[in-house]
Amino acid sequence: MIQNTTRYWVNLNNKRAKSPFCIYNIFKINEMSEKVYIFDTTLRDGEQVPGCKLNTKEKLELAVKLEHLGVDILEAGFPVSSPGDFESVNQIAKTLKNTVVCGLTRAVQNDIEVAAEALKPAKRFRIHTGIGTSDLHIKYKFNSTREEIIERAVKAVKMARNFTDDVEFYAEDAGRTDNEYLARVIEAVVKAGATTLNIPDTTGYCLPNQYQEKMQYLVNNVPNIDRAILSCHCHNDLGLATANSIAGVIGGARQIECTINGLGERAGNTALEEVVMILQQHKDLGFYTDINPKLLTAMSHEVSDVMRMMVQPNKAIVGANAFSHSSGIHQDGFLKEAQTYEIINPAEVGAEESKIVLTARSGRSALAHRLHKLGFEYTRNDIDELYPKFVEIADRKKEVNEDDLKEMAAAYKK
Ligand code: KIV
Ligand code: ZN
Repeated sequence: MIQNTTRYWVNLNNKRAKSPFCIYNIFKINEMSEKVYIFDTTLRDGEQVPGCKLNTKEKLELAVKLEHLGVDILEAGFPVSSPGDFESVNQIAKTLKNTVVCGLTRAVQNDIEVAAEALKPAKRFRIHTGIGTSDLHIKYKFNSTREEIIERAVKAVKMARNFTDDVEFYAEDAGRTDNEYLARVIEAVVKAGATTLNIPDTTGYCLPNQYQEKMQYLVNNVPNIDRAILSCHCHNDLGLATANSIAGVIGGARQIECTINGLGERAGNTALEEVVMILQQHKDLGFYTDINPKLLTAMSHEVSDVMRMMVQPNKAIVGANAFSHSSGIHQDGFLKEAQTYEIINPAEVGAEESKIVLTARSGRSALAHRLHKLGFEYTRNDIDELYPKFVEIADRKKEVNEDDLKEMAAAYKK
């Protein structure tokens, strides 16, 4: 039994929250901090992933959970695209109580009328209309001109305003749209009544500084920009969706469009859980969201199950390994003080407590910790004697599990 308290078990009870230097307690919500609106598009852009098609019942269940999570705006679908999508948007519109329910349209009269019809029962609804603005889209998708695109954009926004005061305009492929022209489009649609301006990096092309500068350019060069909110909508083709969204907020945007688990077209969209936790961790940036972070893990599991899309184990915030430690150096530091290797307490995002995974790279402190969790109390000398056997098992197996530990303990006669 333990006589000498050694470094192996000094933190077996995980003193993370009691440390006077606990970084989790350092920042209080800055009274000057500004809200960033969370626009969830799991049920629209997220659902565009091959194999992730949901039926109305599944969509409705997720929508209720997303409202509970605290999303401000929920993009429920693209009503004109199919009777099933119309029905889902309509059911969600009838059910949600606080969240703004949004429907996507092209800059086409019929799309807008159908979306308005589907959204009509909602307490609060938004029509999200728009058109491609990059020269590539103008030439190849629309065989049109820059001036004609502005006219079509303005017409669509005015049409949408006949149904609601809450109209969001998207300038598709804004990431590759010339800033000067983009500013002209934005000025015109704000004049026509758009209240939110979505600046999508549709192809995930921008670098964070470019996306930030694009937002800053619009803030500085669109005379009526103060009448609307700028929104980030970033795709992850280069793995930059989250970084770009945060850069966009720093550049002046106050809404982020995102999906649970980063689901979406091709490489996906910005992951909701990532941007929420970045703004939470970096309070010094001066922003907050109304998302309840404690529900993030459960929400991720729910979406993964319903959409039948596994979450990669190393996924930030919600991956199975997000709070696992397997190398001896990390485990030793973590057991002395959790903050040495963790910037988020798993409880903050509703995850199970951090795991110490036993592999051939684990050290004595990790072994002592896991044995202690199973109720075996050993001295440092005991652990020194047990360790070679442990390494032998670990070399044979990828991971030493509880049964292996119990067997080791039973064989160790003391
Ligand atoms: O990525 C994109 O540009 C979009 C728009 C339709 C908003 O999803
Ligand atoms: Zn998109």
